[in-house]
Amino acid sequence: MTEQEAMQRVLQPTSDPAWVLNVDGYDPLRESSIESRFAISNGFLGIRGARAASRGARWVVPARTYVAGLFDVSGTEHATPGLVPAADWLRVRFLAAGEPLLLHPGDVSSHRMTLDLRRGALLSRGSRLKAPELGLHAQTLRLVSLSDRAIGLQLIQLEVESGAIDVTIEASFEGVELGLIADRLDQDLGVWRTAQSGKHLAMASEPSLQIDGRVQPPTTLGKLTWSWSWKCRPGQIVCFQRFVAVVRSDIPDTDPGREARDRLQGALHLGWSGVFAAHEAAWTKRWHHSGVEVDGDAAAQRALRFAIYHLTSAANPADESVSIGARALTGDDYHGHVFWDTEIFLLPFYVLTWPEAARALLMYRFHTLPAARAKAARMGWRGALYAWESAATGAEMTPEEVLGPDRQVIRILCGTQEQHISADIAYAVWQYWHATGDDGFLLEAGAEILLETARFWASRATLEADGRCHIRGVIGPDEYHEHIDDNAYTNVMARWNIRRALDIAAALRERWPACWTALAGRLRLDEAELKLWRSVADTLIDGLQPTTGLFEQFAGYFGLEDIDLAKYAGRTVPMDVVLGRERTQQSQVVKQADVVALLGLLPEEFKGETAAAANFRYYEPRCSHGSSLSPAMHGLVAARMGDTEMALRFFHRTADIDLADTQVATDGGIHIAALGGIWMLTVLGFTGLSLRDDGIDIDPHLPGDWHSLAFRVQWRGRCLKISIDQDRQIAEPTLEAGEPMMFSVRSKRHELRQGAGLQVSTAHP
Ligand code: BGC
Repeated sequence: MTEQEAMQRVLQPTSDPAWVLNVDGYDPLRESSIESRFAISNGFLGIRGARAASRGARWVVPARTYVAGLFDVSGTEHATPGLVPAADWLRVRFLAAGEPLLLHPGDVSSHRMTLDLRRGALLSRGSRLKAPELGLHAQTLRLVSLSDRAIGLQLIQLEVESGAIDVTIEASFEGVELGLIADRLDQDLGVWRTAQSGKHLAMASEPSLQIDGRVQPPTTLGKLTWSWSWKCRPGQIVCFQRFVAVVRSDIPDTDPGREARDRLQGALHLGWSGVFAAHEAAWTKRWHHSGVEVDGDAAAQRALRFAIYHLTSAANPADESVSIGARALTGDDYHGHVFWDTEIFLLPFYVLTWPEAARALLMYRFHTLPAARAKAARMGWRGALYAWESAATGAEMTPEEVLGPDRQVIRILCGTQEQHISADIAYAVWQYWHATGDDGFLLEAGAEILLETARFWASRATLEADGRCHIRGVIGPDEYHEHIDDNAYTNVMARWNIRRALDIAAALRERWPACWTALAGRLRLDEAELKLWRSVADTLIDGLQPTTGLFEQFAGYFGLEDIDLAKYAGRTVPMDVVLGRERTQQSQVVKQADVVALLGLLPEEFKGETAAAANFRYYEPRCSHGSSLSPAMHGLVAARMGDTEMALRFFHRTADIDLADTQVATDGGIHIAALGGIWMLTVLGFTGLSLRDDGIDIDPHLPGDWHSLAFRVQWRGRCLKISIDQDRQIAEPTLEAGEPMMFSVRSKRHELRQGAGLQVSTAHP
């Protein structure tokens, strides 16, 4: 096969329509949400799905390349630090007889952009560039390698359909002075630094061009600019390829230029087909471990593939200094900041399908412990209070004010009051350890996070005259209500955090006494303090009403105005805009899952036959889903309770956030937490999967149309495939790697061994 034929092959997207997302033509109003949806990323580099070729001389490309961890603070007072866009390395211009060719996608009805989910690549076909004397047909591909995250690849194949004139292709970088300070711009390399955060970025690049199989040397060269001029003729095939190698350095005064050049050489040595093959193999491996197959519901299958595609794109197991922002690397809403979204909505996916990625995300929290300790100390408490919005160092990044929908300045209190983040992180640490059995992580980092967050809660709660401990002046997940006392979610999670820390202290003392002595010594943790923690946990008020079994969301919530949300069913704006902030605060309208989130995370706290259902029935109708995180959490709980129809409605509602053109804004990036929520709802909700000490339990309630569902999970070093056949009412677990374990359906246990097939009935007795 000639190189040209090989390139022609990879420029064809995966033929199975269930693995691709297409967009035809061009719609200026939808373009920026399409850019988010069609973004490609490898957890280090993220590139929005903007068109590959520029539309003329003066067309400015919006920022579209993000580099994980490349945060900076602008010099402006009160400016919020955020991700700074890197230069756009994909810029290409065509000139016919010296005049730029305008490739306006709107001019070509046949233009199709395809996101190939299976191979993690963005392709375009059907673009026809027309000048009076020239017709070109273009096909393009771009990827950022999942196998070597520093590397990006761009391929363009042009077929000259008509014309015999002088043409030029110019490849360059756009926005070299956009957000970073250029230290040096060489012909093949740019090195930049951030204005204030002390980071460096190097991008080395090499494009090349072949005409009818023969390599053409560039006609002119400039700083990060290459151009080729020749006389074209009909039938000519022009293949353009460009590599980029990107290196971020966090050490001030270092120049990562040499490393970028070395990485580039490595990629050039492999060639575009070698880079492509390694990338494709990395994606195949990830799909093997993380893919979820639904038979019977094509829309659900598509939603799951799209979610898993972005979840896979968002993480980087090799970099412990970064985590995943609320829009991953697909847009700049929330400035790339990291929220509880990662620990609560994303970690379950990573823990159970890609534990290396989960570990790196939690190590980011370990490395940012000093900042969390500093925040707690600054506010007068002990232990670790994590930033509500976190970036490179873990310092608090939440903006202090924003402009509201009515253009009024609104004070944002989350940076000081939304403290449940510390318990959310502790929760994720515990889930990871419990699911993986990674004792090394526990000893190196996990135990310290659990102990320091527990210490925070013990100092944060105050013993009052009623003999109970209270946590006053917080914001729960429902951010419509600020400065509230005793938020049930916060307090129950805090109590759980303290108790797990006590468990860990006991486990360390028993199993790793030397580690315990060293850690307790370093943290100055003594018996008296552990005793205090125990008494705080035992006396912390949790808002549970014994008569009804309901948790009161916070002190005084039940006395607030009860508003029937059904009456506002057709609204197109959030409820706090409909009612106004003040009335919303005085009402029971909830922004997002709060007590319901507690039910999703700690179902065992809802004791007795009816408590879970009673709480869900109370809070679900009062929730206005003012956050994209909310529907999936409700769906998870509904699915576990067996209300499959309602759960499926929440599933589709969540899927629509990024896939349909709903009112939710996707211009600023995809909603990665909602995508994590889709996986949670499916694997933890519809299958009712839970982790036990000896194995895995399921309690499936699949939607009516789903004939079967199949997926893999990793548990304590084992790899397990689970297929659930709804039509035959059986589950078939297969242990593909690892020691025997238990598999149970609604607590009925079976031993599972490698090589021994098992079929278990899922029928309700
Ligand atoms: C939600 C938070 C969330 C943040 C980032 C907010 O609107 O209320 O819970 O962490 O968005 O996704």
